[in-house]
Amino acid sequence: MNPNITIRRATNKDLLSVYLLLSNCLLEMYDLPAENFIVAEIAYKNKIVGTAVEINRNYPEIHTVAVHPSYRSKGIGSKLVNYLLERQPDWREYIYVQTVTPEFFGKLGFLKLDDVYHKGYVSMFYSLK
Ligand SMILES: CC(C)(COP(=O)(O)OP(=O)(O)OC[C@H]1O[C@@H](n2cnc3c(N)ncnc32)[C@H](O)[C@@H]1OP(=O)(O)O)[C@@H](O)C(=O)NCCC(=O)NCCS
Repeated sequence: MNPNITIRRATNKDLLSVYLLLSNCLLEMYDLPAENFIVAEIAYKNKIVGTAVEINRNYPEIHTVAVHPSYRSKGIGSKLVNYLLERQPDWREYIYVQTVTPEFFGKLGFLKLDDVYHKGYVSMFYSLK
């Protein structure tokens, strides 16, 4: 893990960078506000290289974890997910994700709900118990 990477909550000023990053990964922002996003930033470069979304509607969910292709396999994606898992005292027992990368989430302790893939996505959950 690069020690110069900081994980923090996004602000409105970050939204353009987040949009460009997600576009680079062929992902969307779904009109979500900045408060739903966290970012991974190389502080000395003021450069955002990763992002993740938390959604807490009917159930708590992690959504749209993305790391810039040039910065993958350095632990940044794991750090983003762990940041969300560790800082949600009001989240309930289970946190859900629908993902095309079950191997990545499996290494972080997520389990498959079942083996059904829908359009390439599989549903997984993480137990806080
Ligand atoms: C998935 C993603 C966020 C992982 O980010 P990352 O910073 O490269 O992940 P990490 O370096 O923390 O990897 C942690 C572990 O997961 C594994 N992993 C990461 N991405 C993987 C993938 N796509 N397939 C299988 N394993 C993967 C790594 O090999 C690593 O394993 P290790 O600990 O044994 O070395 C990144 O590849 C990405 O942005 N992909 C495109 C967007 C996407 O598909 N997001 C997920 C949908 S929610």
